[in-house]
Amino acid sequence: MSAALADPPVRTPGTLALALTVNGVARRVEAEPRSHLGDVLRERLDLTGTHLGCEHGVCGACTVLIDGEPARACLTFAGACAGAAITTVEGLDGDAIAADLRAAFNREHALQCGYCTPGMLVAARDLVLRLPEADERRIRVGLSGNLCRCTGYAGIVRAVTSVIAERRARGIGPVSGAERALGPVGARIGAADATPVARPVPVPAKAPAAAPASVSDLGAAFTPAHSFTQTIDLAHPPEAVFALFGDIEAVAACLPGAVLTGRPAADEVEGGLQVRIGPIGATFRGRARIAHDPERLSGTVRGAGADAGGRSATEGQIRYRVGPGEAPGTARVLLDVGYTLTGPLAQFGRPGLVRDLAGRITADLARNLDARLSGAAAPAAAGLNPLRLLAALVRARLAAWRGRA
Ligand code: FES
Ligand code: FES
Repeated sequence: MSAALADPPVRTPGTLALALTVNGVARRVEAEPRSHLGDVLRERLDLTGTHLGCEHGVCGACTVLIDGEPARACLTFAGACAGAAITTVEGLDGDAIAADLRAAFNREHALQCGYCTPGMLVAARDLVLRLPEADERRIRVGLSGNLCRCTGYAGIVRAVTSVIAERRARGIGPVSGAERALGPVGARIGAADATPVARPVPVPAKAPAAAPASVSDLGAAFTPAHSFTQTIDLAHPPEAVFALFGDIEAVAACLPGAVLTGRPAADEVEGGLQVRIGPIGATFRGRARIAHDPERLSGTVRGAGADAGGRSATEGQIRYRVGPGEAPGTARVLLDVGYTLTGPLAQFGRPGLVRDLAGRITADLARNLDARLSGAAAPAAAGLNPLRLLAALVRARLAAWRGRA
């Protein structure tokens, strides 16, 4: 019996209740926060056409469409898909392109054991939709994120080539008008070689999984995927600290990795933030809106941005409140941080790591704010030192493990 819930009456503690559209049907399903989409599709919704091979983003067997874009189900937290439209290979049963591809795969001996075939069909369909012509090199690049142990690829490439050629000969052009590169979300190889072409699938859509552009607009409503709190203790009166928070340029100069790209207005600022987690780095450019409440000594900073290649994107909100510290004449700043991260960086940016990283950045910020409030020289270069941060993270993790041992 399917474990999908029409409307889960009682949610198991610690699980998420997700509303998704899967293959055109609204579904509600429970999932643990750590569950990836592939497991939820297979084990909770009985959609076993989505295969799992490597489970770390290499083989492409788990490729599905998320809001019309090919994506690795094994790298996608199910919880990040709330409200999304998911299309699995089962959802392509009545699809004309998929039918042409199935026939061509049979004709060209493009499968043997068939393990790679569901992901291969989803990826191939995207190429058929969007490549202007049957270009073997671009087909091979487009399928390079889908591994096949059996066929040697020649039959697969022939099959895809024949379907594209036959459709273009019938006067069916590529879908045009979109800007994204070929390949699965988060694993787009050869993006520089790919012609930017069409958003392919007319499934109900919400925002794409990775923002394509450099500067994002701030959406009207924002529900962060993750949140945490931080505190900063400063040896200065709350009023002085709050006044400094009103000086955007001064705060930006104190924030490691931050640069302003223009003169800030009273309530809006444009700039960039360099972030590096493990082997993946990104410089986010974006915009933030700022609101201060002098009566409550509090405020909100709400921002969104994307990295230069548009492969990782973030949206976040920081609420702060300045209050008295433990000692007279000191201040304690409470920060409520909420954020959503998408794209390759999200695959490394597990909430625990991000929290640790934020803790290190906040410690640097506090030191720099303290120096500025003390009238000391402007803080030294505000650049983020990824090696130092990473070393600090590793030290902290080792200390925590040793403490547990
Ligand atoms: S199972 Fe291999 S990429 Fe997802
Ligand atoms: S047909 Fe066996 S892995 Fe591709």
